[in-house]
Amino acid sequence: MRVTTAVIPAAGLGTRFLPATKAVPKELLPIIDVPALQLIIDEAVGAGIEHIVIVNSRNKPAIEAYFADAPEIIEKLIASGRPEMAERMRALGRDVRVSFAYQHAALGLGHAVGCARDVVGHEPFAVMLPDELMGSSELLGVMCDVCVSSGGSVVGLKRVPRDEVGAYGVIDPIGDINADGVVAVRDLVEKPAVADAPSDLIIIGRYVLTPDVFTAIEHLKPGAGGELQLTDALRVQAGSGPFHGVLRDVRRYDTGNPVGWLSAVVELALDHPQYGPAFRTELRRVIGEPNL
Ligand code: UTP
Repeated sequence: MRVTTAVIPAAGLGTRFLPATKAVPKELLPIIDVPALQLIIDEAVGAGIEHIVIVNSRNKPAIEAYFADAPEIIEKLIASGRPEMAERMRALGRDVRVSFAYQHAALGLGHAVGCARDVVGHEPFAVMLPDELMGSSELLGVMCDVCVSSGGSVVGLKRVPRDEVGAYGVIDPIGDINADGVVAVRDLVEKPAVADAPSDLIIIGRYVLTPDVFTAIEHLKPGAGGELQLTDALRVQAGSGPFHGVLRDVRRYDTGNPVGWLSAVVELALDHPQYGPAFRTELRRVIGEPNL
């Protein structure tokens, strides 16, 4: 048994990034020269995922357009002697199976995941929030293994300073974290007051869920912000069977807000094999820091 499907919820309104996201879905905002969504797909493929299910809104057709054939662009690239880019364009949406499900209104993350139920079927699956970029596929790969071996859902975890927990979902752990970073979870709390937080371990936007989560989602009542919250469905799972977290010290960027997106672009651009050297020179000039 392996986890081979990943759901990417992409039907939200992206209000923190308006007005850019009025016409361009935040999932397609460029990280240097690729859409953020492509980096999420690359991470999934690196963790062994073979089928991507994008939960989209009918108001964001640009996401489907990214995967559509573009013969005129490919012809132009070949004619102008750029066969490698032509090949890269041809592979989009073909190097991994991509399906779409639709959410008719942005009723919350729990609802968005529930919209993928028929496409996912009765098997464990990953959920990847496309506005959280991770440096590697390692975390998701380990989470898939833990889900298969434990038979329960798994969340990705990161440790943050105590005074920052109030902005996140936080777990209540059972016992110690083992040498592989795996910890059993008793409960999850959404955006707790710092004094009430059961730990300093926050849930980052990676989940590997057993399909009984769909039943819990079906019974969700509107929670925080009037939305159907995925965390509330996960609490039902944590209260009734095995549930684990995997802790990693990942460099994680929240590209859903302007400062997080800028940090991701700047840091990744400095390391970019093609654009990095020229960008570093330019940034040195801008900030007047010769040692950058
Ligand atoms: P966010 O809350 O970060 O995205 O949800 P948002 O609602 O689009 O953004 P803001 O807060 O208004 O700026 C995390 C992910 O879940 C998806 C979003 O598209 C985003 O990728 N999502 C959220 C849905 O697909 N449906 C929803 O109802 C809510």
